[in-house]
Amino acid sequence: MDKFRIKGGKILKGQVAISGAKNSALPIMAASLLTAEPLHVHNIPKVRDLVTMSKLLTFMHVHVSVKEFPSSDYTLQATRLNDEVAPYELVKTMRASTLVLGPLVARCGRARVSLPGGCAIGQRPIDLHIKGLELLGAKITQEHGYVEATADRLRGAEIVFDRITVTGTEDLLMAATLAEGETILQNAAREPEVADLAALLNKMGAKIQGAGTPTIKIKGVTKLKGARHRIIPDRIEAGTFLIAGALTGGDLNIAACDPAHLDAILIKLKESGVKTKSTADSVRVMGDNPFTASDLNTEEYPGFPTDMQAQFMALATQAEGTSIITENIFENRFMHAQELVRMGANIKIEGHRAVVRGKTQLSAAAVLASDLRASASLVLAALVADGETIIDRVYHIDRGYEKIEEKLKAVGAQIRRIGNMLP
Ligand code: EPU
Repeated sequence: MDKFRIKGGKILKGQVAISGAKNSALPIMAASLLTAEPLHVHNIPKVRDLVTMSKLLTFMHVHVSVKEFPSSDYTLQATRLNDEVAPYELVKTMRASTLVLGPLVARCGRARVSLPGGCAIGQRPIDLHIKGLELLGAKITQEHGYVEATADRLRGAEIVFDRITVTGTEDLLMAATLAEGETILQNAAREPEVADLAALLNKMGAKIQGAGTPTIKIKGVTKLKGARHRIIPDRIEAGTFLIAGALTGGDLNIAACDPAHLDAILIKLKESGVKTKSTADSVRVMGDNPFTASDLNTEEYPGFPTDMQAQFMALATQAEGTSIITENIFENRFMHAQELVRMGANIKIEGHRAVVRGKTQLSAAAVLASDLRASASLVLAALVADGETIIDRVYHIDRGYEKIEEKLKAVGAQIRRIGNMLP
């Protein structure tokens, strides 16, 4: 298992180019199941979750081709599908595998997908995906850890989500494109990744209106065709590097991003006294002045993303004053807090609130990454810690950040990937 060795105290300066959005690329690759024609997708981030999605689709007889490996340009073609199954071995490593459920039942009339089970950040059930598919006329059974959905043809319906779900919205959006009649999704997720998926589906011939708003209308069609699409930039990777610039007192230009998707993060940075300057496709962060504590509530988009909560906590340890961070999306997303405390942070967890008292001098320690964004927060903390931090289990970070150590090294960080040192 790889580790990162990070020596803190370097001021980061220069430019970082942002990769494509992992959480956009995942449903977009799953959308290849909806058509027999080829889908050409560009700007796919070279991260492990996308390799897992490729494996899953290949397992389902989708022809996945790339010029070289790893690549950011994929061609996917699901010419023939036959009784396809998403097996537990793949689903357990990546929950987003459940995104194949809707497209499979819509195109083939049958889908068998392993239930994902619990995960490090919360229970994360998929009951809302299942309930929505039932409303679209699918017959659902659950047996032996698998959910099986069958339908001759899905029928349009009005679906009101009990709570906002990102992949649930995406799953049902894909399913509804091939349903008979109109589907209305109410209380839908408004994330830019949902809008990106809808943009691709419309290029494929779907009739979707309102993606990016709480009400999405879909007029079902009988067939979808191939298309070409470029994935939007990853707003969470951009946010993570913005915090790296601010924390280290650096001057970073975050290029190839979409500042329009970063509003909540930029507002929070401004509130903390961090200076940023945006153009149409970049944000410069100047961390030359001290920053102050600021409270934070995670919310669905356009609120502050839960996927940036851990990174913001690392920033809060270096802010003057007390920050109260409230996690509203997942019930167990404070695993990074204990590791930050081991590095000298003053953090108290009270239910779904974390009280962070700053500013504390962080000191290097051996720490353990527990999930993707938790690992990012440990990398950030290590950048300003006194001494050399060793972060174990960085495979978590490889799931969602493309070459983070190379990008950080290029702007001055002292970071090195090392193999497992234990026998
Ligand atoms: N929920 C249910 N039932 C469902 C679906 C969701 O109760 O059927 C609950 C969840 O347990 C959670 C809340 O609803 O408490 C929101 O979950 P959501 O379904 O929106 O999460 P997700 O779609 O599984 C996506 C991202 C996550 C991100 C969340 C929230 C992808 C592939 N994943 O997950 O990304 O944290 O939305 O924004 O898009 C990450 O990239 O590190 C990551 C975890």
